[in-house]
Amino acid sequence: MPYYEFAFSADDFARIQRSIYRLAGIVLAAGKLDFAYGRLVRRVRAKGVPSFQAYLDAIDAGDAAERDLFINALTTNHTAFFREPHHFTLLTEQLRQARQSSPQASLRIWCAASSTGEEVWSLAVTACEAFDSLTPPVTILASDIDSHALKVAADGVYAADRVALSPPRLAKFFVSDATRQTVGVRPELKALVRFARINLLDGRWPVNGLLGEQVEAIFCRNVMIYFDRQTQYAILKKFQPLLGREGRLYAGHSEIFTHAADLFSPLGRTVYAPCGVK
Ligand SMILES: C[S@@+](CC[C@H](N)C(=O)[O-])C[C@H]1O[C@@H](n2cnc3c(N)ncnc32)[C@H](O)[C@@H]1O
Repeated sequence: MPYYEFAFSADDFARIQRSIYRLAGIVLAAGKLDFAYGRLVRRVRAKGVPSFQAYLDAIDAGDAAERDLFINALTTNHTAFFREPHHFTLLTEQLRQARQSSPQASLRIWCAASSTGEEVWSLAVTACEAFDSLTPPVTILASDIDSHALKVAADGVYAADRVALSPPRLAKFFVSDATRQTVGVRPELKALVRFARINLLDGRWPVNGLLGEQVEAIFCRNVMIYFDRQTQYAILKKFQPLLGREGRLYAGHSEIFTHAADLFSPLGRTVYAPCGVK
């Protein structure tokens, strides 16, 4: 029997499940009781309330600052540089072809669940390598619901021993700080990226305002797995009109959207093309 500093009932857990589903679309499975306790106990302590019940009352009463910290505490931010590397090879081809078809166009990528930034900076490196330039014709929007993860992403500074990149890539795209044992993303890469907190559940996304008319690629990887099919479908329905005919949706390795065959066709390797775009 695990030790619980605060009483934690099945009812408290059910309230957490309902709140995180309502706020972020995340389905917290029945077996995640210890996970929820472990993630939230620090918030209960920090808030100085006597119980989980009192803490959840504050969330339900609309304490906006605490609600955001509640969401941050329950998100899973696992990510890595060049995770699922074949997507970056495919993106390179896509960007080069798009540039050939419209030489004047600036190309746009939305990284829709950017977590702590490893995926975003992998996209920025890919863009630079695709055009052999530190100022490629590419703009990237990085967004996440988790405000803390987004700040780490925007800072672009990582413990040197956590950045599993080849030495040439590290030398070209990062600046190392030997004293702090960190590496930081070069300013040229930072200039390619805009950051915004976007909840994929929201009715309106400021994507066109931040990026422009049409998006070549949406990277939305390893977040849909936390949503049910209904939520996934609603998000896919809003992704579809953002992409042009040659646009691509890159999903996580276990994210299969057969239930949205009217919106996206699979091209293999969890890359999707929007259906019915003229
Ligand atoms: C496992 S990480 C995936 C990171 C990255 N895309 C990758 O594949 O490595 C999932 C991310 O989705 C974010 N997320 C969860 N629910 C979200 C929502 N409703 N809107 C936007 N982002 C969300 C989490 O905060 C987390 O950073």
